[in-house]
Order: sequence, then C-alpha cells, then structure tokens
Amino acid sequence: MGTERSAVTVIGLGQMGSALAATLLERGHPTTVWNRSARKAQPLVERGARRAATPEEAVAASPLVIVCVLDHDALHATLDPVAGSLAGKALVNLTSGSPEQAQEAEAWARSHSAGYLDGAIMTTPPGVGSPEMMFLYSGSHTVFETHRPTLAALGDPLHLGAEPGLASLYDAALLGLMWSTMTGWLHGTALVGAEKTEATAFTPVAIRWLSAVTGFLTTYAAQVDAGHYPGDDATVDVQIAAIDHLLHAAAARGIDNALPELLKATMERTRDLGHGSDSYASVIEVLKKGAGSA
Ligand SMILES: NC(=O)c1ccc[n+]([C@@H]2O[C@H](COP(=O)([O-])OP(=O)(O)OC[C@H]3O[C@@H](n4cnc5c(N)ncnc54)[C@H](OP(=O)(O)O)[C@@H]3O)[C@@H](O)[C@H]2O)c1
Repeated sequence: MGTERSAVTVIGLGQMGSALAATLLERGHPTTVWNRSARKAQPLVERGARRAATPEEAVAASPLVIVCVLDHDALHATLDPVAGSLAGKALVNLTSGSPEQAQEAEAWARSHSAGYLDGAIMTTPPGVGSPEMMFLYSGSHTVFETHRPTLAALGDPLHLGAEPGLASLYDAALLGLMWSTMTGWLHGTALVGAEKTEATAFTPVAIRWLSAVTGFLTTYAAQVDAGHYPGDDATVDVQIAAIDHLLHAAAARGIDNALPELLKATMERTRDLGHGSDSYASVIEVLKKGAGSA
C-alpha cells in the first residue's frame, strides 16, 4: 500500500542540488529539475526526474520548490525573472547565505505571495538522505509543517523559529565550531605526530576526549544563560597556566602556535576582566564585548 509522495521541484543541480534531487527521487517523490547548465539534469532524468525547460516551468510543476544554487545572487538571477509565478508556492531556499540575505529573501518571497523557508544543510552531498544529518530551517511554520514529510526525506529537519535568518545564523555558528574543533585536533595531531604518533592512533583518544568536552559544554551553557560562572571545576587562572605547557611542547617541536596563542590571549583578557577565579565559560564575556575589550 503505497502512500502518494508529493511533487517537488529542485532548482540548482550542482553537487548539493543533485544529491537533493536524487534522494527525493529515491524516496518516490515526483521530482522536476532545472539547472542553468542543462546537462547536469541528465543523470537525474535517467533516474526518473522530469526536466523543466525553463525556471518558470520548474516553478509551475510543484507546490514545493527547493532552490540550492551557489549564492543569493544566483538565486535572484534564476528566480527574479519568474517571480510572478511564485504566488501560492512554498519556496525552500537551501542556498547558503547570511542571516540578512535570508531576511531579504523572505521579504522578497512574501512580496510575491510565496511561503518562504530558509534552510542550512549540515552535511555534504553523500550525507543527504541520512536521518542523522541535520537540516536547519527557519521562517514559515506553515511551509515547514505542510512539507515536513518531504523535507524529512533529505535529513532530520529542525525548525529553529519564524525569524528567517536563524538557520543561516546557526549555520555560521556551527561552522565556526567545526573549524575551531578541526584545527585544534590538527594542532594536537601535529604535536603528537612530531613524536611519530600517527593521526589514526591519536584520533580515537581525541574523540573520547571530545565526548568529555561535550559534557563541559552542557555545564557551561547553563552558566552562560545565568551570566554566572562559578569556577568550582577549573578556573581561568588554572587554564592559563595549563596552556603554557601546550605552547611550550609545540614550540619545542616546531609546531605553529598561532591557535593556542590566540586562546591564551583570550583567556588573559578574561582574567583581566576579573574572571580569573571563574570557569572557562566566562570567556564569553570577552567575546561578547568584541575585539576592543581588554
Ligand atoms: N557541497 C556541500 O557540501 C554543501 C553543504 C552545505 C551547503 N551547501 C550549499 O549549497 C549550495 C550549492 O552548493 P554546491 O556544492 O551544489 O555548489 P556547486 O556544485 O558549485 O553548484 C552551484 C550551483 O549553482 C548554480 N549557479 C551558480 N551561479 C549561478 C547563476 N548565476 N545563475 C544560476 N545558477 C547558478 C550552478 O549552475 P551551473 O551548473 O549552471 O553552474 C550550480 O547548479 C551553496 O550555497 C553551498 O554553500 C553545499
């Protein structure tokens, strides 16, 4: 007994758009596709997609239109000429951009009587379709609830709120976390590598450590929300002393120390603000004050 899957249009068939369309086809959604370079539609057509000849035809084909192009300029280059045909459609924009661009796109869609949901894909194309991968959304609740079953085919859909910029804001925040974490891991990998430990040997230990670190984050999140940072586990002063060991060990092995030096400087600014006896969560006080704070 098959359930009828709803029709979807995917505009933009780069690496990510092609993965989105392929996943929707796999899950049985009647899928219409359009891409500026038409040849990229061919592998999807072979898997059952319908090729739209124009963006207008693509928009007309389905109640839900997913757009995943390079950037917001590409989004507008594609959809501005056919904006008149968006009325009554649900537009889900999975193109990366800033929160401000998401707000602008939402106002633009609204002015053309289209529902708008902004999205951020927290995976690479091979992860599309996996229920573990997060797809962050913000904007219209109605679009989200109406099309949730279709969006769930792509990954785990999380609606963050009605403010359209939220998905992009979380995306930026989470990528920052990823880059800091990966660079910290690579710094550690270079450090132990200087003593002939292979990355594949160090990494399982690093991953166990990261699970301890997630526990610290949970504790510190409550402190950040309370604006109160009891240093009853480890103080900023203690961590300033500890990071000197990292700086020393890395310098002695010729490893670049820009990252730990930045971290130490930030901890020292935190101490100078009077948080030496507080927990590491008090570093947020320096970050919130911006670059000029002492
Ligand atoms: N790849 C990832 O892992 C990943 C992860 C999360 C989010 N994203 C986001 O997904 C979006 C697409 O990324 P991608 O990896 O698929 O990039 P990509 O492979 O470079 O594809 C870019 C797409 O944008 C289209 N495009 C570029 N300029 C255009 C224009 N002026 N007018 C119309 N179409 C235009 C391209 O069309 P042509 O084929 O005609 O050039 C192509 O369909 C980006 O915003 C990216 O940040 C990607």
